[in-house]
Amino acid sequence: MSVTEPVNVLVAVAWPYASGSRHIGHLAGAYLPADIFARQQRLVGNRVLMVSGSDVHGTPITVRAEAEGVSPQDIVDRYHSQILEQWDRLGMSWDLYTTTGTDNHARVTQDMFLAQLENGFIDRRVSEQFYDPEVERFLPDRYIEGECPHCGYGDARGDQCDNCGKTLDPIELIHPRSKLSGATPERRQTEHFYYRYSDFTDRLRSYLDSKTDWRPHVVNFAKGWLEDEGLQDRAITRDIDWGIDIPVDDLGPGKKIYVWYDAVIGYLSASKEWAAGDRNPSGDPQKWRDWWENRDSRHVYFIGKDNIPFHALFWPAQLMGAGDLHLPDSIPANQYVTFKGGKASASRGIGLTIADALEIFEPDALRFALAAALPEHADTEVSVEEIGRRINEELVATWGNLVNRVLSMVYKNCDGRIPGTSGHHTEDLELLATVDAAFDAGAAQFAQVELKAGLRTAMKAAQATNGYLNATEPWKLQKTDAERAAQVLHTALSAINGVRVLLAPYLPFTSERLDSVLGAPTGWRRDPLAAGTPIAKPTPLFAKVELEGAE
Ligand code: MF3
Ligand code: ZN
Repeated sequence: MSVTEPVNVLVAVAWPYASGSRHIGHLAGAYLPADIFARQQRLVGNRVLMVSGSDVHGTPITVRAEAEGVSPQDIVDRYHSQILEQWDRLGMSWDLYTTTGTDNHARVTQDMFLAQLENGFIDRRVSEQFYDPEVERFLPDRYIEGECPHCGYGDARGDQCDNCGKTLDPIELIHPRSKLSGATPERRQTEHFYYRYSDFTDRLRSYLDSKTDWRPHVVNFAKGWLEDEGLQDRAITRDIDWGIDIPVDDLGPGKKIYVWYDAVIGYLSASKEWAAGDRNPSGDPQKWRDWWENRDSRHVYFIGKDNIPFHALFWPAQLMGAGDLHLPDSIPANQYVTFKGGKASASRGIGLTIADALEIFEPDALRFALAAALPEHADTEVSVEEIGRRINEELVATWGNLVNRVLSMVYKNCDGRIPGTSGHHTEDLELLATVDAAFDAGAAQFAQVELKAGLRTAMKAAQATNGYLNATEPWKLQKTDAERAAQVLHTALSAINGVRVLLAPYLPFTSERLDSVLGAPTGWRRDPLAAGTPIAKPTPLFAKVELEGAE
């Protein structure tokens, strides 16, 4: 394998709203692929910084708080701690998972605002917004629902239409209704700060033109947006009392920074928080610059497709207006996971929450089944039955049983120690060459963030090992030719030693269990076996799933 210089890779992961239980659609859409990718990049030797946090601002939080009669902070505390606990159970290997509620994030957001104001990309404008005369409040974003002006969908929310993916200004909605009172809102004038996104239309066009290796659905969506309407200037403040303070007080009270303006800044503020904290091994608080002020770093954003405009258009425009910070290199946005044909949705109760799924499946098994069904290029149907089938028929049958079978034979027939070998037959060398070739194939797939394909590559190497065992039948050789039997077991265990590295990004918990037998991997490669190492009596890595009555 070619040796390349380590690269600084920012794995930037969409910030989930701390407004409800997260869903396995979110998991398969953004978080799981990010973690799989980050783990493989660390094995390759790159310097990975994987950051995200809970998105604690905006109307998703306040609408929920008002519905329950509690404070927004209560909602945030409840769901942030739930999310944190689930990351642990799922094995998410964050370098930092924080929230947008920190002082650091507010400061970084305000600094960026002031820099853009100074650079002339922010100005003040008076516009009409909807106002609820019954509760006497302006109705930003999700306080309004109505008909989408683009596709006619009846339940579009004021900030975005779930049906066609267009972002909206609530004032555009047809037949608007107030979520607070149900009243038909009236229009009133209000003053806000606007970001001059339109100033960046040309630069964004050439930026997107340079992204020839992006997923077609991502780059086409972003380019299509620019073609239709160019980029429109958008308000980046709101009439709301929950959010980050505007760093200049020209507008008077009752206004805060808009959640989507601040949330994307989280990637930068979290990098700074990481650098200043004790999880940064160098202890240098300026270390974030190695990712953000470095042309050779690589920034990869993991998001669902409803977030494409914010990451492929608005965030790059914000970065361009703030100075010379690294732009997204790749945005491998996923499409949707669907359940019985419908988009999974936490707020509408469709599909499984992460908590539900963890009740039924072991974390690695769940990760495996979702990784095999990642919606990388098309919406992908998922069900409890299908997850269970994949676990039983693919994970257990092809990999779990292979490991168990070989380790049991080694344990029984090689005095409970990893065998050395007295030589190799051609078929042995062929198997090992197949496994080694999978590392190159897999590396290329990971470079393209084709994680489903990376999993298939690993599983093919496992299948090749099964085929080798079926052809050589070491359980029979044991009685007729003990020396050859030991060679075969050595070869099979060597192959397993490679496959478990290929699978490690997908299966962190069970891979680590194998470290106690095989040693920790030294990189994205098959390490030689340490002959003579004693092994404990093996226990199966995975249990078959009983699906009776699961739903
Ligand atoms: N909270 C948003 C959502 O769940 C995602 C924000 S991603 C960020 O759709 F980058 F803006 F933080
Ligand atoms: Zn629509």
